[in-house]
Amino acid sequence: MKEFNFENPADREEFMDYKEKEPEKAQEVIDQERKKAEAYALLHQYDKISLEYALATITDPNKRFVQYPESLRLLGELDGKSVFDIGCANGTFTKMIKSAGASEVVGFEPSENELEKARSAEKESPQGIDYVSAYCEIPSDKKFDVVSAIMVIPAVNQEQMEEIFNKASDLLVGGGKFVALTLNHDFKRFGEIVNNRKFSKRADGRIDIDFYNEKGEVYMSIIDTDFSQEEVEKALKDSGFGEIKWESLRVVTAGIEELGTEFWDKYEEDCPYVGLVACKK
Ligand SMILES: C[S@@+](CC[C@H](N)C(=O)[O-])C[C@H]1O[C@@H](n2cnc3c(N)ncnc32)[C@H](O)[C@@H]1O
Repeated sequence: MKEFNFENPADREEFMDYKEKEPEKAQEVIDQERKKAEAYALLHQYDKISLEYALATITDPNKRFVQYPESLRLLGELDGKSVFDIGCANGTFTKMIKSAGASEVVGFEPSENELEKARSAEKESPQGIDYVSAYCEIPSDKKFDVVSAIMVIPAVNQEQMEEIFNKASDLLVGGGKFVALTLNHDFKRFGEIVNNRKFSKRADGRIDIDFYNEKGEVYMSIIDTDFSQEEVEKALKDSGFGEIKWESLRVVTAGIEELGTEFWDKYEEDCPYVGLVACKK
């Protein structure tokens, strides 16, 4: 396929000629560029909302009382273990992994704004966590006991999910554990506010999520991918994972005590999120 750099005015002009002469091939170029732009937008989605997301990681009830404590439960005993945290954002959960006893923790995050927040938090109160912006910063022979990717699968497209699973597999010791949280494909309450979020299905199958604050105002919106369990399992198996277990999530007692049972009404029966634990062969 002919290559064009659409940021370059001369290439844009050349493309207009090409489109006249080779309309079908030109359409292929357009489709390819759209795909690239979509992948780039996904990879950098959190750059634009890093302040709102930082606040959510410490205030959002779903994160405080479901996602983070349940991810720790799925990670299991961490004493003396090395952990690689993929898509660690500002490091809120990465710090919890270290506090839970892991001997070595490395966080990977592609968003510059998120990574900067994670690194500055580490500088302010050092826990000995390393943060990297690319997998190639990890020595090729380095292996970890555990790899986590909490709410990262919904933030990516198919190719990016496959890359994450391939990297996770490469980075794990044989028999090592991969833990992820993702959207529950069986979730039903679209179009309703489910405690403090509204999930809406787009025509292309993606999910728009609006996050509401205590005043009922939307303070953050994201676009997620809603992979089926079969799609996730196939990609994991293709990357060298054996046994895969899906895990329902619970609300921890502190969440019920702080917000009451009404806030969590139907949450566990129709949970927006689900956990998974996979073992590298
Ligand atoms: C919903 S946030 C989850 C952050 C963190 N794990 C947590 O639970 O607080 C998703 C994160 O995945 C990152 N991300 C997006 N694309 C990624 C990719 N291809 N590989 C790894 N991380 C990615 C985003 O920048 C964002 O920080």
